[in-house]
Amino acid sequence: MRMYDLIKKKRDGKSLTAQEIKWFIENYVNGTIPDYQVSALLMAIYFNGMDLEETTALTFAVRDSGDTLDFSDVKGIRVDKHSTGGVGDKTSLIVAPIVATLGVKVAKMSGRGLGHTGGTVDKLESIPGFNTGLGVDEFLEIVNRVGIAIVGQSAELAPADKLLYALRDVTATVESLPLIVSSIMGKKLAADDDCIVLDVKTGSGSFMKTVEDSKRLARLMVDIGKQAGKKMLALITDMDRPLGFNIGNILEVKEAVETLRGKGPSDLTEICIALAAHMLSLAEKGTYEECEDKVKKVIADGSALKTFADMVEAQGGDSRVIYDTSLFKEAKFSRVVKAEKSGYIVKVDTEGYGTAALLLGAGRNTKEDKIDFTAGIILSKKTGDFVKAGEAIATLYTNSGEKLDAGERKLIESTVIGDEKPAYKPIILDKVQ
Ligand code: URA
Repeated sequence: MRMYDLIKKKRDGKSLTAQEIKWFIENYVNGTIPDYQVSALLMAIYFNGMDLEETTALTFAVRDSGDTLDFSDVKGIRVDKHSTGGVGDKTSLIVAPIVATLGVKVAKMSGRGLGHTGGTVDKLESIPGFNTGLGVDEFLEIVNRVGIAIVGQSAELAPADKLLYALRDVTATVESLPLIVSSIMGKKLAADDDCIVLDVKTGSGSFMKTVEDSKRLARLMVDIGKQAGKKMLALITDMDRPLGFNIGNILEVKEAVETLRGKGPSDLTEICIALAAHMLSLAEKGTYEECEDKVKKVIADGSALKTFADMVEAQGGDSRVIYDTSLFKEAKFSRVVKAEKSGYIVKVDTEGYGTAALLLGAGRNTKEDKIDFTAGIILSKKTGDFVKAGEAIATLYTNSGEKLDAGERKLIESTVIGDEKPAYKPIILDKVQ
């Protein structure tokens, strides 16, 4: 087989066979095929797409490109949850402990921030001492004992995704349906879970900008997961606004704790209850409505918060900060961003908000960048709110005062203030099963 022929075939709009896809992935991972040829193939896939057979074959080839995990030592049903990436999306920190409190095991592998979107691993590492790099034995011991552990992706798991993602990032080929499906599901299927609930984001803060594209993405991921023997469900949720009020690592952990205390923002609380109830219901813990009641109970009685603190403790973190979030480090500098005119917040560019947080130090510009865990944004106003000229729309936080100007500029240019109150938009837009 020659890579040249595969590129030409895809360039001309033809379908690749499963053998050809498997061959290309194996030989890319072992270093035989150079980046420039893979870049050309990725661009051909970006323009010409892939049919279901090709997308499935690519997903399975990514899954099989490295180790697959064996969770058979974990007692009980295992459920995973994955978001396609958003801004202010701290749902995993809330949903995973809720589900674990109710007797379903969560052995979760999460990612770091990607572009303007945040990552669960970075958020957890903002908790002093928290170790996201556990060995497999320790990871599984904690899952069995506490019900939950969350770690970063190991280098051995789906290495093809690591290579392909880095290349897509620099060749403008991220926003391709088959490439996103194979990246997410390739990783998810390499872990040994029984059920997977997907939170497919849609809108200005996500990689899929329209509901139609997000639904197609969800449909493909659900179907491929089922084909691999998993129980699957996807929610399509709105990312035309950040989730909750806090963006940035420590700030998001604080808001997650508030939500686990039952005092979180309504949009975040609604999504978390729905995701957790669907996870439990897939794991046969009752009907969706019964599971929703159970979720509300473990939030109200504090047991889900305790599970979160127990996981923090088990993974080497300082659980005192969970019970008293004022113990977290605070940013040295802050600035209140004021509205330039009166009116309704008609819409926001959520990606711009994510970028503003990144500019303040909450994310990385290069792989080597160190994150400022204290950096981020607390919003005072969200889409649909009325704001008077001079009133605060947000407060920016950072340890590097020189970053405030760029963060402020980005936030202001990402906020549209107008005369008409925008129509109400639900946060959960659809479900794919
Ligand atoms: N998250 C992933 O892991 N991969 C993608 O391609 C997009 C979001």
